[in-house]
Amino acid sequence: MLELTSLNLQKDEIGTLVIPVCEDKAIHTNPKLTALIKKAKQIKGFKGEKDDEVILYDLPDTNVSTMIFKGLGKLEDLESESLRAMAGKMVGQGIKKDLPEIGFAVPSAKKIGKGTSDILEAMLEGGFLGNHVFDKYKKEKKHKPVKEIHFFATADVAKRFQNLPDRVATVCEGTLLAREWVTTPSNDKPPAQLAKSIVAKAEKAGLKATVLDEKELKKLKCGSMLAVGAGSQNKPCMVLLEYRSKGAKKTVAFVGKGITFDSGGINLKPGGSSRDMKCDMSGAAAVAGTLTAIAKLKPKVNVIGAMPLVENMPSGSSYRPGDILKSHDGKTVEVGNTDAEGRLILIDAISYVIKTYKPDTLIDLATLTGACVAALGEKIAGVFSWDDELARAIVESGDKTHERCWHLPLPKDYKKALKSEIADLSNTSSDLSGGGAITAALFLSEFVEDTKWAHIDIAGPAHFMKGSDYCGAGGTGFGVRLLCDVLDKL
Ligand code: BES
Ligand code: MN
Ligand code: ZN
Repeated sequence: MLELTSLNLQKDEIGTLVIPVCEDKAIHTNPKLTALIKKAKQIKGFKGEKDDEVILYDLPDTNVSTMIFKGLGKLEDLESESLRAMAGKMVGQGIKKDLPEIGFAVPSAKKIGKGTSDILEAMLEGGFLGNHVFDKYKKEKKHKPVKEIHFFATADVAKRFQNLPDRVATVCEGTLLAREWVTTPSNDKPPAQLAKSIVAKAEKAGLKATVLDEKELKKLKCGSMLAVGAGSQNKPCMVLLEYRSKGAKKTVAFVGKGITFDSGGINLKPGGSSRDMKCDMSGAAAVAGTLTAIAKLKPKVNVIGAMPLVENMPSGSSYRPGDILKSHDGKTVEVGNTDAEGRLILIDAISYVIKTYKPDTLIDLATLTGACVAALGEKIAGVFSWDDELARAIVESGDKTHERCWHLPLPKDYKKALKSEIADLSNTSSDLSGGGAITAALFLSEFVEDTKWAHIDIAGPAHFMKGSDYCGAGGTGFGVRLLCDVLDKL
């Protein structure tokens, strides 16, 4: 669906061509394009300011029916993300207009002062991700995605980056899978059903997939995750996906929180705060989406994905505040609050993965705490790790993919707050003054042994009520592009 070719304005028969334009500086090298932009800028009301737009039809000397000149503002304010957003927005408009295809003139990296791959990748991503229609729950299916998105660059760039469109499409397909799983309502994704859907996609991609059901989890003594699932009619399970590369020297594991609905349990969430809790399996969705992408990217490392899937509900069979649970690794946990359930399912998954696969690096993703949203807002994820290099790699990848991450501290003295008088640990902090994202991460750290580990709290950016330029309302698929990028650095 993504095509990268060189541009010949006279010859190429193009239906709709979008030409990004800066207000103050030229960003294209193609002389014909530059001349056309000059012409467009003579039109009153079009200066190239952000979101300015002018449409010209059937311009002489070209074979393009519709040219959309799209303002990006000042060059110094231009980020890769502006190009990603612009591409997504224009494809979104194309969908609404029922265009069969749309083309973009790729600006010159030299003129912009960035790397060609950054610019191109951002535009490809924005275009692919913006070309998504989630109408499964609508009676009337109004629109279809556009069939083809063309990117026109110089002949040299088109040749050098000929493999990039496929890579981007693979990674973004994984992202869209994650988005759809998150956006799917909880009544359509109880653990067993979500597991089935994940396994189907994973096996199609060529991964080995295993589902541990409740009986097997009991045998494995995953008492912590089973307790969280005890209140629901929908039984918990754990999905394991394996990608193996011949001759691989390293194994990386991704673990994702998969609470298919978080009511809070007996500590029921108040008022409207459970409204969006279908998104509480976003970590699992990101891990599953990442692994399906990895199966096609074929990196030279082994990758394991583990997704504990559990519904947290109140009932006569629920676990209670004050209960003491025995986790898979043998440590006992006193339940301070049944709404701090994410960490309880993660520790069993983390211990199981470490024991079974002995990964060199383990990264977990979880919509873990409201405290992380309070700290960083809803667009930035928190990263926790003892390993500064690993944290830096994650933050850097997040800058590149615009899945922004911020390294937060893991002060050892804060562990005191997780002490229990009776059990080995409490699942909640006794410090009520704050730092909830940190104590949650410290709780997980008690189960990672000496594995190189990072935890990413995605409670903020996993889900948005309103759509944006290249993401519809609902799940964002946060983490898939990030993990695919990080993997190359591990
Ligand atoms: N799933 C929530 C965290 C969350 C909050 C995700 C907002 C997405 C958006 C998590 O299970 C939770 O309830 N955390 C509690 C922990 C507390 C009881 C220690 C919280 O953040 O309040
Ligand atoms: Mn909760
Ligand atoms: Zn939760």
